[in-house]
Amino acid sequence: MVMFTLRKLLYVYCCVSVFIILWLLNYHVTDKGEDDVLEERLDVLQKRLDDKHKLLEESKQKVKDYEEKLHKCRIFKPFQKSFNTSLPIIYLITPTYDRIEQKAELTRLYYTLLHVPNIHWILVEDSDRKTEKVQHFLANCKIHYTHLNVATPQQVKLKSSDPNWLKPRGVLQRNAGLTWIRASLDPHKDKGVVYFADDDNTYSVELFEEMRLTKKVSVWPVAMVGGLRFESPICDKNSVTGWGVYYRPTRPFPIDMAGFAVNLQLFFDHPNAWFSNNVQRGYQESTILKLLDITMADLEPRADKCTKILVWHTRTEKYNPKNEAKLKQKSGKGTDPNVEI
Ligand code: UGA
Ligand code: MN
Repeated sequence: MVMFTLRKLLYVYCCVSVFIILWLLNYHVTDKGEDDVLEERLDVLQKRLDDKHKLLEESKQKVKDYEEKLHKCRIFKPFQKSFNTSLPIIYLITPTYDRIEQKAELTRLYYTLLHVPNIHWILVEDSDRKTEKVQHFLANCKIHYTHLNVATPQQVKLKSSDPNWLKPRGVLQRNAGLTWIRASLDPHKDKGVVYFADDDNTYSVELFEEMRLTKKVSVWPVAMVGGLRFESPICDKNSVTGWGVYYRPTRPFPIDMAGFAVNLQLFFDHPNAWFSNNVQRGYQESTILKLLDITMADLEPRADKCTKILVWHTRTEKYNPKNEAKLKQKSGKGTDPNVEI
């Protein structure tokens, strides 16, 4: 009986022990409290990882932005080469005015000038303010430049319907360039040459080296002007003896503005040499050369004694965006006016 009770007790004890062990084991496996802690830790770690990812993405974006900025700087931002002090500087005065073809003309001219060392471009707008279009254009200009503006008075301003020859063009703008030169350069130090380069002509890069060492006034032929294939000074050895022109040959200097360059010093020596709106048609060039006291003997032929064409008096066809109105009528709007052309 005692044995039976002991065995029973042992049995109960074993059962209880197994139960406790199982319960403990089960508790360990399904320990909710520890799981919660783990999960919480996991959440924290996940959040930290997310934050790091976010930071990484932000940093990546920053690097990308900087790379883009750097790229733009390299390609578009002004990179003005310093002047070579042993070489005279070419001061190029260019009148320009607002029209649909303007940016195309300026781009073409600018790309030529990029190939010319020691050049200072004085771009003068025919406008009472500096236009956004030209400001945008110059923001990416990699050569030395000065941006000026002066408006041609209404009574002498060419209307878009007027023929080109009716009124003088670029007069006050060239004078503004001369004013800048006289006020900003040092007659005792600065060595150079002044060239009046209209924005619509076509210039060979070689032309600028021909004019660079001008003592007084250098001259050369100009193509597509005066109703001839080209107009040219007639040269004998190193002097100019006459003029190969048809249009107004009796002018003191029957030459186009694109056909000569002047030593910078002359503009300091003749402070009253200016262009004028009150001169006869075709007399702008003669007027300024006379005021600079130039004679035929002072002219220095260039471009292989005036036998090579290095500048063309090109004129861009006036563009008529005639379908804008039709497009507007058809689809409610024309091309995007915010796109600068
Ligand atoms: C010719 C000569 O090549 C010019 O140098 C000269 O100034 C002109 O004749 C004249 O007799 O006045 P052309 O091709 O007929 O030139 O003239 P444009 O090219 O139309 O104008 C000359 C310069 O003045 C250009 O750089 C042009 O952008 C500028 N311009 C023209 C203005 O600044 N405002 C205007 O209203 C028109
Ligand atoms: Mn022209």
